[in-house]
Amino acid sequence: MSGAPWWQTAVLYQIYPRSFADSNGDGVGDLPGLIARLDDLAWLGVDGIWLSPITLSPNADWGYDVSDFTAVAPEFGTLDDVDRLIAEAAERGIKVLMDLVPNHTSVEHPWFIDAQSALDAPKRDWYVWAPPKPDGSLPNNWISSFGGPGWTLSPPTQEYYFHNHLVEQPDLNWWNEDVRRAFDEIMRFWLDRGVAGFRIDVANVIIKDAELRDNPAATEDDDFEAQMFGQRSVYNANRPEVHEVLRRFRALADTYDEPRLLIGETPVPVDDLARYYGNGSDELHLAFNFNFINAPLDAAAMRTIVEETEAALPSDAWPAWTGSNHDMFRFPTRWAQGDADKARAALVMLLCLRGTPVLYQGDEIGQLDSVLAHEDMRDPLGVLYYPAYAGRDAGRTPMQWRAAPGGGFTDPEATPWLPLGDLEDHNVESQRKDPNSMLHLARDLIALRRATPDLTLGDYASLAAPEGVWAWRRGARTVVVLNCSDEAVTISGVSGTIALSTHRGRDGEAVTSGLGVSAAEAVVVTTAA
Ligand code: NOJ
Repeated sequence: MSGAPWWQTAVLYQIYPRSFADSNGDGVGDLPGLIARLDDLAWLGVDGIWLSPITLSPNADWGYDVSDFTAVAPEFGTLDDVDRLIAEAAERGIKVLMDLVPNHTSVEHPWFIDAQSALDAPKRDWYVWAPPKPDGSLPNNWISSFGGPGWTLSPPTQEYYFHNHLVEQPDLNWWNEDVRRAFDEIMRFWLDRGVAGFRIDVANVIIKDAELRDNPAATEDDDFEAQMFGQRSVYNANRPEVHEVLRRFRALADTYDEPRLLIGETPVPVDDLARYYGNGSDELHLAFNFNFINAPLDAAAMRTIVEETEAALPSDAWPAWTGSNHDMFRFPTRWAQGDADKARAALVMLLCLRGTPVLYQGDEIGQLDSVLAHEDMRDPLGVLYYPAYAGRDAGRTPMQWRAAPGGGFTDPEATPWLPLGDLEDHNVESQRKDPNSMLHLARDLIALRRATPDLTLGDYASLAAPEGVWAWRRGARTVVVLNCSDEAVTISGVSGTIALSTHRGRDGEAVTSGLGVSAAEAVVVTTAA
């Protein structure tokens, strides 16, 4: 036994519950449907699932606008279903993580309904309010990350409230101790039920500048988002005080005997990522690395991000690697442009780096983004900004279980909440029958990781490789080679046995003089002792 915490050797899997499995034919995925699919997840070999929000919500932002943090939305099921999910997942060795959305609530949350009613309402200070400037203009220049001004006038008091996202998602005021205490209770509510931890929504945004200072203008050195908005979000996000909040979350999680996991949504530059792990690991256990997600599947680009991440994180911090999620689309499309070989190679990359891989539902079958008609879009961003931006629905279409009406996701005659994708080309049922499928590759990779301490806890070191190829060593005896180029290459200096290749016939092949790697192939080699 390594003594490493469970989440360091785990493979995590994100479920977007609305699109995973529908048990009652209403076209919306639900908890009983998910429970019925636990055997599939156990077969795949994942250790933990993170559920995008299942709490009560008017769904302006599909669950990320919460109106009750401790009630299950009826379309998903009941608290009893959650208990059953936790118990049945545990029987299969799978832990369940919830999504915690501490930055904002829904406008329909009773806290906000009270807060907006009067200047002296009991919950007034739970949100971020400001009067208009003397000339009647907005309190400051902050912009919503979803576009448009971050401030909306609230008629009853003629003051503005701040929202980093939709108008329907007012930001909470994390300077207020009562807000902090309320979230202590919310976290305990779920942790006491046996939830293994939380993915924390916009973990870098939670607290706002107390003086509500204007953001500075973007410079040409700033990232794409700052350029797009014309300003750097230094006062409405990424505040140093956010770390105080994350330390509080961590201290609470650490009161549980069974170690709980906090994984944060942290879209920040690599150099800033380390801060979210805290000092001596007293904040997040894992921080999502959006620099990696956003990099192209190019050997030099990916290697650079990984080397920078390895260098930036202190020795007690553990990376997390992901290629897809419900906001960033699916890696078989984004990284691999639909090329099945490249998608398979990317899967090897995700599962063979030092850190915890987080797969998104459908990654294991190479599910692609769908192209949706405007009238089929449900993401408020697609609805608002189409055609300039088509929103996030392309990566949220239902899980493809079978090539049949309803896709195995919902009843054949039901209308799924988002259209089904390319069922014929990518579905679980047919891939399960094919040992050469991406699904079997995913399963074999997960099993190989589990059986190979080098691949879970071993160090990472880049190796010399020809242009277009990224090679790295894990631990003492494992070498991974990812050929991102369009040419076959031969790598010298590697001898041993192929533990796994995306070209399945090669598993077990001896490597003596030079390792041949085809274009878009990825190979894992156990080197000679
Ligand atoms: C990040 C979530 O992943 C996204 O789906 C949501 O729209 C925003 N946070 C706001 O909660």
